[in-house]
Amino acid sequence: METTTSGPEETRGLGKCFGELALAGLVVLLNGDLGAGKTCFAQGVAMGLGVSAETPVTSPTYTLLNIHLGRLVLYHFDLYRLSQVDDLADLGYDEFAEGEGLTLVEWADRMTDALSASLSVSIERIDEDMRQFHFEAFDSRGGELLEKMSRHCPS
Ligand SMILES: Nc1ncnc2c1ncn2[C@@H]1O[C@H](COP(=O)(O)OP(=O)(O)O)[C@@H](O)[C@H]1O
Ligand SMILES: [Mg+2]
Repeated sequence: METTTSGPEETRGLGKCFGELALAGLVVLLNGDLGAGKTCFAQGVAMGLGVSAETPVTSPTYTLLNIHLGRLVLYHFDLYRLSQVDDLADLGYDEFAEGEGLTLVEWADRMTDALSASLSVSIERIDEDMRQFHFEAFDSRGGELLEKMSRHCPS
């Protein structure tokens, strides 16, 4: 599935729609260069899960993982500074990924081998405000979500 957004509000809107439709246990890989809009999309997902606006969603660049409570628990990873796959294991990545929450992984392509996911979201910067989104499903759960998105989310 492909779509574009014009500006951060539209990206948050897309993420919000994704978060509203998301099912427990999904692992979502978020890829794209610095400033592509991965965190912006994650902010929308948090809104869609009903995470309180009092706990702002920012890149967990130094902490590697931020946890937010919503309709589902949001495990928000950022692997930008991850040096070894062991660090991810130390955080308990496998438990989160196999649990009932929603796992979002920024810079997942740094560690693809270690991650099994239902879908990926790749964001490409077209110009200052335009972003191209490419959604790809890896299993039936991911496929079902993309199918629902294509019917319910603005494009
Ligand atoms: N369509 C868009 N979608 C997302 N971000 C956008 C868009 N247009 C401009 N921006 C800007 O790009 C930046 C994206 O930052 P961020 O989400 O932190 O990126 P990343 O997490 O991928 O490094 C923000 O400054 C945002 O305002
Ligand atoms: Mg980020």
